[in-house]
Amino acid sequence: MNPVELIRRKRNGEHLSRTELEQFIDGYVKGSLPDYQMTAFLMAVFFQGMTPEETRVFTEVMLHSGEVIDLGTLPGIKVDKHSTGGVGDKVSLILAPMVAACGVPVPMISGRGLGHTGGTLDKLESIPGFRTDLSIEEYKKIVGELGVVLIGQTEKLVPADRKMYALRDVTATVESIPLIAGSIMSKKLAEGIDALVLDIKTGNGAFMKSQEDSLALGSTLVGLGNQMGKKTVGFVTDMSQPLGTKIGNWLEVVESVDCLRGKRIPDLMEVTYVLGGAMVWLGGKAASIHEGMKLCQDAIWSGKAYEKFLQLVTRQGGDSQLLENLDRYPESDHSIDVISPLDGYVAGFDTFGIGVLATELGAGRLKVDDVIDPKAGIQLQKKVGDAVQKGESIATLSTDKSEIIQKAAKRFLACISVKGSAPPVLPAIHKYIDDKGQHPWTAPSLY
Ligand code: URA
Repeated sequence: MNPVELIRRKRNGEHLSRTELEQFIDGYVKGSLPDYQMTAFLMAVFFQGMTPEETRVFTEVMLHSGEVIDLGTLPGIKVDKHSTGGVGDKVSLILAPMVAACGVPVPMISGRGLGHTGGTLDKLESIPGFRTDLSIEEYKKIVGELGVVLIGQTEKLVPADRKMYALRDVTATVESIPLIAGSIMSKKLAEGIDALVLDIKTGNGAFMKSQEDSLALGSTLVGLGNQMGKKTVGFVTDMSQPLGTKIGNWLEVVESVDCLRGKRIPDLMEVTYVLGGAMVWLGGKAASIHEGMKLCQDAIWSGKAYEKFLQLVTRQGGDSQLLENLDRYPESDHSIDVISPLDGYVAGFDTFGIGVLATELGAGRLKVDDVIDPKAGIQLQKKVGDAVQKGESIATLSTDKSEIIQKAAKRFLACISVKGSAPPVLPAIHKYIDDKGQHPWTAPSLY
């Protein structure tokens, strides 16, 4: 293989063969192909795209760059969920134990915060003692015992993505449908699952901002999953405002615990029940997604989902006593209320801006080696459509960084629009995608 020729052909919009992709990616993983040639290839794909067939082959090559877990000896249909990433998205923390409590095994391998978005691993690690760096043997053991496990990517799974993702992050080549599809689906297919539910976020807090792009990404992901033998469905869900009311690692654990104990946070629980209902249906425990949603609701109301979460936390080394006494957690040194300067209705948020702000308060990483402050974050008192009076608090920001807090409050105010009349409230679920195509989502809400 001549890497320069391969890059030139991709740059000119040609279709690469399996052997070419295998040799190129293998060379990169082994270190014989340098970052600058991979960067040129990624940029060529960014501009030229890939055909559906090429995307499938690319995903398979990524998948086989490392180990593929076999969970075949464990009983049950193993189902996972993956979100393309958003602000305040703590769905996995509620959904994984909830679905497991319905009898469907959930082996979940999650990621860390990326750019302005939060990551499930960082949220879980805000629980003192919680270990996400388990071996594949421990992963298999825990899902077999408890029906649920939540870990991080290991060295052995999809090493090509680990290296390529880090490079994409610093070369402006993240927002490409074939590259995102290959990255997400190779990791999910390596987990040993039988079926998958995808949450494709859309709106100003998502990687894909327009519905059109989100639908195109969703159809590619769902198509790939089904072609590769895993029953896969997807939902395009709203990310034009943060999900729920809390953003920041421990704050999101608190909101998840509240919801597991039955608190109603409408947008968050709507998305959680729909995705969970689809998992229970794919896992063979319900005749339809809607029936699955009702089983999920029973798991919350009966306390079984919360009980499963406590068991999971204990099993993975976390302090579950603290979850029973949430106010024992230390607080940030500084907090500030963001005050509305006028009467009106919250008409919208700059969700991306809020995600960046949460990161700067300490909830995320600005550089790869930054240490996260688990206490830092934002609590919203108002969501889109809520009435607000002049002088009332819209949000509270918490951080240990006294030097940035005043400025952060001003910046938060610039991320909100308050208008004289109530805006139309966007649905939490925009579309449903399965192997037959894209459909409006019409199932009755549980609220
Ligand atoms: N999440 C991933 O895992 N990969 C991407 O490329 C984008 C989001």
